[in-house]
Amino acid sequence: MVAAACHCQLGSSAAAGRSLRRTGASPPALLLPPRPRQQRRAAPAQAAADPQELLTLASSVAAGWPAAVAGATAAWPAPLASAATILATDLADVAAMQPTAWGAARLGALYYFFLARPSPVVGLLDFYLLNPIARLLQRRFSEADFTLRERLGGGNYGQVFEGLINANGLPDPITRELSPEQKKRRVILKKANMDAQGIRTNFLKAGTIARGAAETGFVEAYMCARVMRHPQVRRVVAEYLGYFQASSTSGGITSGSQWLVWKFESDSTLGDACDGTLGPFPDCLSGIMLGRRAQGWDEEKRAAATVKAVMKKLFVALERLHSLGIVHRDIKPENIILTADGQIKLIDFGAACDLSTGINFNPEYGMLDPRYAAPEELVMPKNFPRAPPPVLAATLAPCAWAWGAPDLFDSYSAGMILMQLSIPQLRPGASQRSFNAELANCGYDLNRWRSPKARSMDFSLLDRGGGQGWDLAVKLLCLKNELNRGRLSASQALCHPFLLLPA
Ligand SMILES: Nc1ncnc2c1ncn2[C@@H]1O[C@H](COP(=O)(O)OP(=O)(O)O)[C@@H](O)[C@H]1O
Ligand SMILES: [Mg+2]
Repeated sequence: MVAAACHCQLGSSAAAGRSLRRTGASPPALLLPPRPRQQRRAAPAQAAADPQELLTLASSVAAGWPAAVAGATAAWPAPLASAATILATDLADVAAMQPTAWGAARLGALYYFFLARPSPVVGLLDFYLLNPIARLLQRRFSEADFTLRERLGGGNYGQVFEGLINANGLPDPITRELSPEQKKRRVILKKANMDAQGIRTNFLKAGTIARGAAETGFVEAYMCARVMRHPQVRRVVAEYLGYFQASSTSGGITSGSQWLVWKFESDSTLGDACDGTLGPFPDCLSGIMLGRRAQGWDEEKRAAATVKAVMKKLFVALERLHSLGIVHRDIKPENIILTADGQIKLIDFGAACDLSTGINFNPEYGMLDPRYAAPEELVMPKNFPRAPPPVLAATLAPCAWAWGAPDLFDSYSAGMILMQLSIPQLRPGASQRSFNAELANCGYDLNRWRSPKARSMDFSLLDRGGGQGWDLAVKLLCLKNELNRGRLSASQALCHPFLLLPA
């Protein structure tokens, strides 16, 4: 149907182009007055706009591709070279609008396995090849390698400490201040609580969710190692260094406990910026986010540009993570590190699920923080089946992803952060809780929620420039529709005018 419609359009505009040329060709060439310059320049553009000519041009250019590719790949091993030539022939057929059924099938398969999101080839390669190799080559740590320092946090699943990698195998004395040399050895150590449930053998391949603290730690180690193997994604997450199980008790590390280790990225999280720990928001971030270009800007412009910069970096990080088939499921300011050079790094992958292998995915359960979790609570629709073994999960991942749009779970959390950063009254934790309840009462229709609130909150950052920020928030903080769509994905949000246009 679509192809037929395209043909009709092409035909009619080609006819229009031909009739135009006939009218212009009738006077004898010698009697034509010299054409003004502008007209002469416009002629190629007119010719290029003729779809028939474009098609002829494209197919004549494409006709040379198979020979060119055959020449370029002559030195390759024979099967690879002939595969490349066959694909070039298929592409040339498509460019000439004469694809063969086999050619189209080959190109479709190529797209599905290599380019669709999440790519089955990347998922399979990672799980069956890179993961085992990385485990063999990974740096081996033990309890003797670290000095534990301050405890930074803790919850049901584990406790987080600042620590140092020991120099020359000797523990560091505990001092308040760190020397510049010590700062280079600073790490974050997360102790995953061991519980009675332990870790099931072959748990990762069972296609299910972690059932206790020990398995959550195990999943987090898997996810962090997985994202570190991707050259683009590793730049937007805290640098993961490794995992160890203590075999003896040493300096606060007890025998049998399991530990995850990251590079210490920064003292500050976006949570610290929001709650005022770093100073008045958003001024506390303007310097590192905008640099010198913000000098001389008025306060509101600086604030808007800062919020845009943070949101843009957050969506870039999410887009990269989602391209691997991973949904974070716990996106919130406390899990976003702000580095001194204005980068953001995602942390805390204990709740993440990898849809390209089914790891930590269960269609009936999901871990969530009610302040930031999307209202659907699950990343995939309820009737979605349990994940099959990784080989099948990776092969079917693009279909599952296209159908269930699980990444929109993180989009909602990012929308919540946008509201929090932009509206001062929503920054304190308590008001955020009541905002959540009110939004649920309004059926997740942000415009409905806003009408009675308009006078009591400051929407100026979102309303600037024709209300682009508000429009983005409305499109993020909404329900998914029956087709599992209706909310912007991270890549769509990056194309929204609020993030594309300057403040
Ligand atoms: N790589 C890191 N660099 C600097 N600080 C970190 C890093 N990882 C975690 N933190 C700090 O530790 C806190 C808790 O870490 P997180 O992984 O979120 O654990 P939890 O599961 O307890 O939430 C973070 O909010 C942050 O302040
Ligand atoms: Mg956390």
